[in-house]
Amino acid sequence: MLFDTHVHLNADQFNDDLEEVLERAKQQGVQNMVVVGFDRPTIKKAIELAEKYPHLYASVGWHPVDAIDMTDEDLHWIEELSSHPKVVAIGEMGLDYYWDKSPKETQKEVFRKQIQLARRVKLPIIIHNREATQDIVDILKEENAAEVGGIMHCYSGSLEVAKECIDMNFYISFGGPVTFKNAKKPKEVAKELPLDKLLIETDCPFLAPHPHRGKRNEPSFVSLIAKEIAELKGITYEEVVLKTYDNARQLFNIK
Ligand code: NI
Repeated sequence: MLFDTHVHLNADQFNDDLEEVLERAKQQGVQNMVVVGFDRPTIKKAIELAEKYPHLYASVGWHPVDAIDMTDEDLHWIEELSSHPKVVAIGEMGLDYYWDKSPKETQKEVFRKQIQLARRVKLPIIIHNREATQDIVDILKEENAAEVGGIMHCYSGSLEVAKECIDMNFYISFGGPVTFKNAKKPKEVAKELPLDKLLIETDCPFLAPHPHRGKRNEPSFVSLIAKEIAELKGITYEEVVLKTYDNARQLFNIK
């Protein structure tokens, strides 16, 4: 029973063969997935997919790269959707200093507003961080994100920061990069952190794990991430699968 906590099956890359992708995931033991929306079209599609398939859930939020496009109506819409029975989290949200489409100040404001929203509706948050670690940690503290907690999605930072996030009620989620041969830091962090604070994800169609690196990613590959973590920790694959599955169900409050 695998739980892929971060998929973009709402992306155009899955338009032609979604049924086959879902079937391969099932064959591989992927029981549940959270489809993450991050702008108007992907939020709409995430909700549609969660309504159509019993084993899919949705997260709704606004991506930092597009922060400049978010209106008050969008924020209000996200808040309305938060009461949908299949919506289990708010995000992805955060800061992305790699791309410069949205100014940093706009990104921070949109990030803060979404944390405040999540606290109002009492849902965990999914954090996207690219080259903005210190500002993310500061804002999570200032906005008291610990009250709802959430996920550090596709984590690639240091062990120290991971522990700081865990202290703020966050889970650390590993994706494809932890399987890359040269990924020394994520491997070390995955090895050191307690299993009851870890989650697994694909972030498909992006960041396919080894040996699929560079190709389209899909949820069935999440098993490769569980295998890598089991090897790093010297425990069994089943142990990683069961514990990360329980962690996800608990965080998303899925009975
Ligand atoms: Ni994502």
